[in-house]
Amino acid sequence: MSLAGKHIILGITGGIAAYKSALLVRLLVKAGAEVQVVMTPNAKEFITPVTLSTLSGKPVISEFFTANTGEWHSHVDLGLWADAMVVAPATASTIGKMANGVADNMLVTTYLSSKAPIFVAPAMDLDMMAHPSTTRNLSLLRSYGNHIIESRAGELASHLTGKGRMEEPEAIVEVLRAYFSRKDDLAGKKVLITAGPTFERIDPVRFIGNYSTGKMGYAIAQEAAGRGAEVTLVSGPVSIPAPVHPNIRIVNVESAQQMLDACEEVFPTADAAIMCAAVADYAPVAPSAIKIKREGNEPPVIHLVKNPDIARALGAAKRPGQLLVGFALETDHEGDNARAKLQAKNLDMVVLNSLRDAGAGFATDTNKITIFTADGRTVPFELKDKRAVASDIIDTMLSL
Ligand code: CTP
Repeated sequence: MSLAGKHIILGITGGIAAYKSALLVRLLVKAGAEVQVVMTPNAKEFITPVTLSTLSGKPVISEFFTANTGEWHSHVDLGLWADAMVVAPATASTIGKMANGVADNMLVTTYLSSKAPIFVAPAMDLDMMAHPSTTRNLSLLRSYGNHIIESRAGELASHLTGKGRMEEPEAIVEVLRAYFSRKDDLAGKKVLITAGPTFERIDPVRFIGNYSTGKMGYAIAQEAAGRGAEVTLVSGPVSIPAPVHPNIRIVNVESAQQMLDACEEVFPTADAAIMCAAVADYAPVAPSAIKIKREGNEPPVIHLVKNPDIARALGAAKRPGQLLVGFALETDHEGDNARAKLQAKNLDMVVLNSLRDAGAGFATDTNKITIFTADGRTVPFELKDKRAVASDIIDTMLSL
């Protein structure tokens, strides 16, 4: 599917990568899109409005009013006109404003008024990119359903080398093409997703848990809902923002037993279940009702009991037509372990992460997966943003 006739707002902010915006406008126009450039005042220090208005064939908008005529630029109309808004390059400052609703320029005001899908291509120096405030603001944008077009590692304007280069214009255009060619291929389907860790209580202040952040499961929930599914997200305790989508219902749980109870309630009417949670394998047999004290006591011995295996329980209850997807996080003998889980838990496919792959596993924004299907396929994927990984998982699930 082409971009022909699509209305695209291109938001340009003040970073060196703004020089690439000219090419981005050119490529979008060549693909048949109508492009309206909205610049922040700072962006004009990096590229002139004349270049951009010539390439887009439309006057660039930057201020709320045209100074000499007093004509008001309606961010509301603009937001409604758009089929998509792309912010490229997106500086740390604009990302922060978008995340927190600081509408002090035309670009952010338009963003807040837009009902269209939003694509954000960050570009900044590596230290700014790695700063917790940037990480947090990007997570917030993701939680609003915005699509982050990850920046690349490479040489930066500062001559330092690291992550922060804006994705190339050609690739940004490809992301948009892919977006507009997507289908509502999960419309009417009910999907159950587990995410995050489980916490198994030792006493009122301590627990057994793991490093899972819930990012992968939340990305799958967002992607499935974006593709039309009605999602129940059964989430262990996490500290990332909840995904915001009218089709996502979140059930918060703490322990494996609570997660199992929630899943058993939903699974009978689900079309598919994706078991992304890192469920603790063991729980203390007898959690203490009061805080275990240190003074005067020997180190306690905590007796553990095996937790229920939720994926296995659903696998045993699965009826024809239901799909069950599991994950396998492995450090060694990855393929063999993953295939063994596929069989043992009666899964239709298993998504393998190897902790040996950099950028895969817990607490990262990226993941590198290999999918093993019950019909015998092994499908490896590149390292990608977790939302893109979520899309690959759902595509493969649909192929079953
Ligand atoms: N899983 C589950 N309930 C459990 C343990 C695991 O639902 N109690 C699911 C996970 O969500 C995942 C898959 O089973 O989809 C594999 O989890 P993993 O922890 O890798 O497998 P285990 O069976 O616990 O095997 P091990 O820890 O020995 O590798």
